[in-house]
Amino acid sequence: VSALASMRLERSDLHRGLEDPVLQSMSFLNEIMSRFPDAISFAPGAPHPSFLSGVDVAKYIESYVDHRCKNGVSPRLARQSLYEYGPSQGIINDIIAESLRVDAGILAKPSDIVVTVGAQEAMLLLVHALCPSQRDLLAVVSPCYVGILGAAKLLDVEVVAVEEAGDSLAFDQLARVCRVARKRGHRVRALYVAPDFSNPSGTRLTLQSRMRLLDAAEAEDFLLLEDNAYAFTADPLTALPTLKALDKTGRVVLIGTFSKVCFPGVRVGFLLADQIVRSADGSEQGLAECISLSKSMVTVNTSPVAQAIVGGMLIEHRGSFAELGREKSALYRRNLGLLVNTLDRRLRAATGLTRGVTWNHPSGGFFVRMRLPVRADLALLEISASKFGVLWMPMSTFYVSPKGGTDELRLSCSYLEPNEITEGVERLVRFVRSLRP
Ligand SMILES: Cc1ncc(COP(=O)(O)O)c(C=O)c1O
Repeated sequence: VSALASMRLERSDLHRGLEDPVLQSMSFLNEIMSRFPDAISFAPGAPHPSFLSGVDVAKYIESYVDHRCKNGVSPRLARQSLYEYGPSQGIINDIIAESLRVDAGILAKPSDIVVTVGAQEAMLLLVHALCPSQRDLLAVVSPCYVGILGAAKLLDVEVVAVEEAGDSLAFDQLARVCRVARKRGHRVRALYVAPDFSNPSGTRLTLQSRMRLLDAAEAEDFLLLEDNAYAFTADPLTALPTLKALDKTGRVVLIGTFSKVCFPGVRVGFLLADQIVRSADGSEQGLAECISLSKSMVTVNTSPVAQAIVGGMLIEHRGSFAELGREKSALYRRNLGLLVNTLDRRLRAATGLTRGVTWNHPSGGFFVRMRLPVRADLALLEISASKFGVLWMPMSTFYVSPKGGTDELRLSCSYLEPNEITEGVERLVRFVRSLRP
């Protein structure tokens, strides 16, 4: 046996997106957590471990196969379809469409859905399809999920930021961004927005802001890419309609994920794109169908085994995504409430201590945004981890501009136990007390 030789390549010969810090943010999390295994980590937005044990995938696959058999497919074919290549658009589109109907009142045709390898693939395929030239810009409500920024980087698509403003967004900036784009001969093709408890800031858009955003998309002629990853964590009594449910003119493409409600290792998400694409010869095709063509050259199809697990999980919960997520949603709300209340009690109680330290009070999602009187950068994180045993995520990762979020951090409560949250806040109190503005 001889060792393999390694050839040296020049970084400058690789795609320049690969150098972007955004692409390193996922591995950065793993790296810092493995270096400080005893630290309490408010860093990753990972699911609570209790939801990952005892997942009976065989049972869910059986439920899916049974469901197909009840609808007239032979048991042999229903089972065989799991082990074959499948249609690029997916095999559980009807089950997803039904869950959108029962949970959100969205009447989607299965043929307008593409089942993707996580929401991440949906983002990549959408940015690829909608921004074909240098003139096509992607706007994002900022700060935003790194997955969309990374997808745009890999595709060389220019991203422009529209800042959040309280529980709304800077509509005047949105209008300006569109105007400036037009002046440059460019166009804003789509705006990425997570209206329910966004990652990283936990912001939720009010109903009024949602309506205004739909009007703005119509007036400025762009699509809305709605990512509703955390909508399931809303208190059912105060849940707001998705943009897609409010969409009267077909401007919204919905991006969904099963990572939070099933489990992330299943790698299943979807997009609902019911827009119609006109060709020069007058023929028409659904946008979802168009996008499934590019999917067939990226991942061919989403694993039918993984789709069957998700399909079975939904069927076992009366076809409802909300029902499937109910227990998880309650646990995440409990954790978030505990984090916010403990911050309020412990950090605010120490008078003088909270000067220049502020945090928001989201009512759902996984995240709390905190502002410090100093730079919340990697050097400070290193100190926080090594001296105080507490980890968090610097917020600057989630901004388009390098100047964004430099004094902010993100705290995630999703995968901690209550005693870890309270102890973690005690450590944060000691860390914050040590800061010298
Ligand atoms: C805003 C947002 N969208 C989507 C996802 C999930 O993506 P995926 O389905 O690729 O796991 C996450 C996960 O962290 C997220 O925070």
